[in-house]
Amino acid sequence: MRCQIVIVGAGPAGLMLGRLLELAGIDAIILERKSPDYVLGRIRAGVLEQGSIDLMDRAQAGTRMHQEGLIHHGVELSFDGERQRIDFSALINRHVMVYGQTEITRDLMAVRQAKTIYEAEDVQLHDFDGIPHVTYRKDGVTHRIDCDFIAGCDGYHGVSRQSVPQQALKTFERVYPFGWLGVLVDRKPVADELIYAHHERGFALCSQRSPVRSRYYIQVPAGERVEAWSDARFWDELRHRLNPGTAESIETGPSIEKSIAPLRSFVAEPLRFGRLFLAGDAAHIVPPTGAKGLNLAMSDVSALADAFVEHYGERSDAGIDAYSARVLSRIWKAERFSWWMTSLLHTFPDNDAFDRRIQRAEFDYLAGSTAARQSLAENYVGLPL
Ligand code: FAD
Ligand code: PHB
Repeated sequence: MRCQIVIVGAGPAGLMLGRLLELAGIDAIILERKSPDYVLGRIRAGVLEQGSIDLMDRAQAGTRMHQEGLIHHGVELSFDGERQRIDFSALINRHVMVYGQTEITRDLMAVRQAKTIYEAEDVQLHDFDGIPHVTYRKDGVTHRIDCDFIAGCDGYHGVSRQSVPQQALKTFERVYPFGWLGVLVDRKPVADELIYAHHERGFALCSQRSPVRSRYYIQVPAGERVEAWSDARFWDELRHRLNPGTAESIETGPSIEKSIAPLRSFVAEPLRFGRLFLAGDAAHIVPPTGAKGLNLAMSDVSALADAFVEHYGERSDAGIDAYSARVLSRIWKAERFSWWMTSLLHTFPDNDAFDRRIQRAEFDYLAGSTAARQSLAENYVGLPL
């Protein structure tokens, strides 16, 4: 088999890249290790920046998103029960949209006409310094695809970054001593907007997927087991961490999904190795506090698609050559913001009284300064590419 570009991974990054290339007449095959149902079953991101909304439109996959996505004009921060609204519309005249990653994935799968090979086992990348090809196994048979380029969109644990010789890669990492325990429930959200709450018992987040489906998270110690958290224990702990009025009005119910995600900041540099490019979680991880992971994946592949279109359409490699530096500059700003939001809102086991006063001062500064709130708002709704 031969195609122009092999994309490894059919998460949001791989599917979006595949779709943008398909629309540009570039022949790309996606190889995905899991089944479509498995990919759709992963409950993850919920907040889209304007740039991601625009990209869904460019991919001609935005119809349902515009019907069902919820426009949010602000978020609420709560610090030891004290509330502070960040009004995006008033501060910077922009907004975000609540629309689940599952739905983005479903919409991108639905519009795709070109080939996606699911349940492709043992994907291996070969000769990406020269003339690349990719091999994989499907139903016990090994296949080979020759190509011009490989796009590694296979997430943090994928094979693409691991195929790069260690000495060619520089990595930067911070592992946090906690994770997020998330619960999905078919109940009305407790508030119209998201609530990010700092409490001495730990961080909590009230999010949502629709007017009748809510997503809640609480900070738990690293290594915690999900089995240790009955629904009753979860709701009890969540209520403790919220402002009393909010806690009282939470509508609880049986969880329809419950999982723990570890928190990590990670960046690999560079993002190009000969004819292999990394994008999305394969290249970087942010803690979910800033709602940036999916959005970064989208902005990476938007830049990568443009670079490939330039290569094939204009016979220019300027975009390809600039890809890594171009997206890394934006990635690091999102890393900074996500790290900052995480530091402000979580409790750290090693924090002493000084650190806690600094967190408090940070919150008070936000409450008292339009410039500080503006800075938070412009980062949260997304910096330009
Ligand atoms: P992935 O979604 O990880 O997709 C990679 C794909 O590659 C997977 O389908 C995988 O099966 C496949 N794959 C892996 N290895 C191989 C292989 N060897 N061969 C073939 N295929 C392979 N982001 C936000 O922007 N906003 C949020 O509100 C937000 N909330 C989050 C909440 C939680 C609890 C978590 C865990 C994450 C959250 N994120 C959020 C982050 C977001 O979900 C990720 O950044 C996003 O999924 C990245 O997309 P991706 O396509 O790069 O990677
Ligand atoms: C979510 O709804 O899953 C969500 C929302 C905001 C975040 C992280 C996750 O910052």
